Amino acid sequence: MNILAFESSCDETSVAVLHNNKVLSNVILSQEYHKAFGGVIPEIASREHLRKIPEMTEKALEKSGIELNNINLIASTSEPGLIGAILIGLNYAKSLAASLNVPFVPVNHIHAHLYSAFLSNEKPRFPFLALIVSGGHTLLVLVEDFFKHKILGTTIDDAVGEAFDKAAKMMGLGYPGGPLIDKYAKNGDIYFHKFPIAQLKNNKYNFSFSGLKTSVLYYLKEIEYEKNRSDKLISNIAASFQHTAVETLFLKVKKAIKEYKVNYVTVSGGVSANSYLKKMFRELQIENIKINVPEVIYSTDNAAMIGITAYFKYIKSKNKEFFKKESLSVKARPRLDFENF
Ligand code: KG4
Ligand code: ZN
Repeated sequence: MNILAFESSCDETSVAVLHNNKVLSNVILSQEYHKAFGGVIPEIASREHLRKIPEMTEKALEKSGIELNNINLIASTSEPGLIGAILIGLNYAKSLAASLNVPFVPVNHIHAHLYSAFLSNEKPRFPFLALIVSGGHTLLVLVEDFFKHKILGTTIDDAVGEAFDKAAKMMGLGYPGGPLIDKYAKNGDIYFHKFPIAQLKNNKYNFSFSGLKTSVLYYLKEIEYEKNRSDKLISNIAASFQHTAVETLFLKVKKAIKEYKVNYVTVSGGVSANSYLKKMFRELQIENIKINVPEVIYSTDNAAMIGITAYFKYIKSKNKEFFKKESLSVKARPRLDFENF
């Protein structure tokens, strides 16, 4: 089965071609326009998707060596994300599916981050714990089988990627902040300053990152950051912040490993591209826990993860007819509904 997949939920226009679960091409255009604004401007994102999607589709097909006529299934992100941005990829994908008369599979972007773990050479073994860390979401999920999930915890305020982006913004580093913090932190001291780790009473697996963000703000004021700013200082604050953010995630995962007795953990979503996160989580291997973090191109937004999720969704579905007609009526939705398959 040849799959053509689209991702357009935020500021990446991405198109991929897969043969079953094998990626043949995965082209990604990261829109540069937003950098000047220090964040994603939804209207610009939609217009750029619209302008670039035909060209990106041609590129993905050409790289894969598969002709459009030989595509057997089309997939696209349908939720969650920027509604106008999703609509571009979703409608483009639906129109192609209708004109080629092939099944159309709508994909939840956060499911796709979860199943991006299956793009690695080593496939996850059920049951496993999935930590999904992106710019908009932070979730810890127990995955018992394909599309059989139990959410253990989620963030009660900011997502971890958002905390990286906001900390970087406060430090005047630019957008997106995650990769910049990662870069500066490489030359910094993780013990330079101790930022707080939120302790939540109601659900031990929930996360909170707004306190960390506020403490960065107060700390920068206290040390008169603007006046004393230097590369060394930036690196030290970045390393201390990053250490706290990653440790917050790590401690919850360790707790869940013990409680649910799993020996396989996947970490995915944009923040899983973080080099310090990978280093800290790989330490679990000493305790015989398998760690699966996708390659960087599969961590941040990409269409290959939409394609592989669509593949599993389709082959595991007991109602394949749904994807022939009804799925063309699926609407774009901005908010996450993780239980909706
Ligand atoms: O999954 P993603 O590409 O888009 C969403 O679904 O949100 O995640 C984007 C997030 C941004 O917050 C970005 O700063 C963060 O992932 N990110 C990183 C790194 N690369 C991307 N955070 C920390 N370290 C990185 N190397
Ligand atoms: Zn994402």
